[in-house]
Order: sequence, then C-alpha cells, then structure tokens
Amino acid sequence: MQISSGSEARGSDQIDFLPWVEKYRPSTLEEIISQRDITKTLQSFLDQNALPHLLLYGPPGTGKTTCILAVSRALSTRYPSASSSSMTLELNASDDRTISTVRDRIKDFVSTKTFFSIPFKLVILDEADAMTADAQAALRRIIEQYSKNTRFCLICNHLNKISLAIQSRCTRFRFGPPDEDQMLGRLQSIVQLEKVQADTDALKEIIKISEGDMRTSLNILQATAMAFPNQCIQLEHVYASTGNPSPKDVRSILETLLNAKISTSYERILQIKQEKGYALRDLITHLHKAMTTIKLDSNTRRVLLKCMADIEYRLAAGASENVQLAALIGGFALAREQMDKARD
Ligand SMILES: Nc1ncnc2c1ncn2[C@@H]1O[C@H](COP(=O)(O)OP(=O)(O)OP(=O)(O)O)[C@@H](O)[C@H]1O
Ligand SMILES: [Mg+2]
Repeated sequence: MQISSGSEARGSDQIDFLPWVEKYRPSTLEEIISQRDITKTLQSFLDQNALPHLLLYGPPGTGKTTCILAVSRALSTRYPSASSSSMTLELNASDDRTISTVRDRIKDFVSTKTFFSIPFKLVILDEADAMTADAQAALRRIIEQYSKNTRFCLICNHLNKISLAIQSRCTRFRFGPPDEDQMLGRLQSIVQLEKVQADTDALKEIIKISEGDMRTSLNILQATAMAFPNQCIQLEHVYASTGNPSPKDVRSILETLLNAKISTSYERILQIKQEKGYALRDLITHLHKAMTTIKLDSNTRRVLLKCMADIEYRLAAGASENVQLAALIGGFALAREQMDKARD
C-alpha cells in the first residue's frame, strides 16, 4: 500500500516539521488501515452520491476523523470547481458549541450559495460527545431542517453520550482498534520513509503499549526515533522513551518482592526505580500483569491483588510514592508469612 505524506494537502517544505501523526495521516479512504468494511461502505455511498447522516464512534486514534476528512477530500476532488470550505464545515470541541452558535454557523454555511451544483454539503461535528444534552436536543431539529442539501457527520468516542434521537437519524459505524499486523505494516513503511532503522520486536512492543491507538503508536515511534537518533530502535529504547518498565526490571522487582528480605527490598527496588525513572503506578500495572504468569495459591493471590489495588488507588489520590512502595513491600511480606504458615 502506498503511504501519502500529506504533501498534496500542504507545502512539501512544511511536511518535514510536522508530527508524524499528521504527516502520515491517510489522505484517502483506501489508505486507512483495518477499517475495511467501513471505508468500503463509505466509498460506495460516495460513488452513488448518496451519503446518509453519519455517526462514527470508537476509541481514540482508530481513524474516525481521518476517515471523514478523506470523505471530504474525495468530495472536493470530485467537484474541483467548488472550494472545499464551501463544501465542508468542521466544528470540534474547541469551537464554541453553544447551540445558538452551532445553529448560526450551520445556517450561514448551508445558505451560502455555491455556483457549482454539488449534491450536498458536509457538516462535521467532531467530538460530539462533548456537546451538552440541550445542544444535542436542538441538533435533532437542525439535522431535519437542513437534510435536503446537507449531510451531518458526528464523531465521538462514547456512543452512550449521544442521544438516542440523534443516533436514530444517523448511520452508525463503530471503529475498532486496528489489527496489530496492519499496524506493524504501517509502522514499518513509515520508518522506511523516515530512513530510520527499527527492530520488529521494538515496533511490536510499541503496538502493545499503544493498545490499539494508532496515534499513540506513531507518537511513541517518533519520540523514540528522536531520543535515539542514528540508532536502530530496539526494545530498550522503547522502554526508555515511554518510561515503561522493561520486562527484565519487572521480573527482578517481582523476584525481590517474593524472595528478598524486607530490609533490603526497599533499597533495591528504590534503586531500580530511581535509576530508570519509573513511576510506582506503572510498576504496579506491570507487576499486576506479571503476577498472572507466576504460580501462587489463590489466597495469597487474593491478598496481593487487594494490596496492589489499594496502593494504586492511594497513588491516584496523591499519596507519597515512597510510602506506597514500602506498603507494597509490606503487603508482599505479609502474604509470604501467610504462605509459610499455611505450609507448616
Ligand atoms: N485506521 C488508521 N489507518 C492509518 N492511520 C491511522 C488510523 N487510525 C489512526 N491513524 C493515525 O492516527 C492519527 C489520528 O487518527 P484520527 O485523528 O483519525 O483518530 P480518531 O479516531 O479521530 O481519534 P479521537 O477519537 O482521539 O479523535 C492519524 O493522523 C493517523 O496518522
Ligand atoms: Mg478524532
């Protein structure tokens, strides 16, 4: 698949300074990875000049905004004589979206005459889940009022924050996290274009850390490439640039917690933590994952999970990292005592 670097959209001299998420934002529907069924359906709507009102929803960084921008671009290319600003109005959460402003802007936009016969205009309401219930209620009427020559596309992360009345006026498309192999393929093409070398393992780890968010994966990739210029990106570079603990460190901390004396554990773990700049919250997340891979009796596991959940909660409330690290060590020591008693 060919990857565009947005050069058609902007001057090519500006491209090099763009963050990669923007530089490699797909400009056509075909270039969007993983959402094949959706892009195919949208393409056939476009081919038939029959776009319904749309509601695109799903987790961040999965291609919703990219998709509708590609639709808007496809419309502009089809009607080159009409300017794109006369065909598409984009409003997002950073715009003033009180209902009177939305109504006025949509009214102005829709009523502006175009000299060329375009089938419909497109109003994009990005981050629609941030609109108040009142604004959504008024939007129902607006959608109906302007349906003759305008199509609305609402985009959001949380479908349950969109009123049922609006949902029923739109064709809904759910964007799932992209397929990991396709994410890998895209990251590999991008590193090639950027003339950066990267180990496949490192790219796979970036995808794992991103949890299906393509935007996050590109941001991590670019940050790592910039933090370690002229080097082949490897696993350690990814851990270092994201502050994520490496599996080796997590294993060593877990071993310390399970086996070392309580008096030495604190110093040992604190040293790793300070050397690598790890946050206790990240360590807890990774220790929790690592615990699923070790053998423990169910009682001990229950005690430890409860201890870690409490610490995570207290850290979120602003508790001291060092005191909570001591609490973690204390929790493991108690669990070990219980295990020993049960064995005797
Ligand atoms: N399916 C995809 N195919 C290719 N690139 C993608 C895809 N999804 C996201 N990206 C990349 O991630 C960036 C952000 O994507 P986009 O703005 O479309 O996300 P979104 O779904 O609208 O997220 P949010 O809900 O946070 O607004 C894009 O610029 C693009 O580089
Ligand atoms: Mg978006």
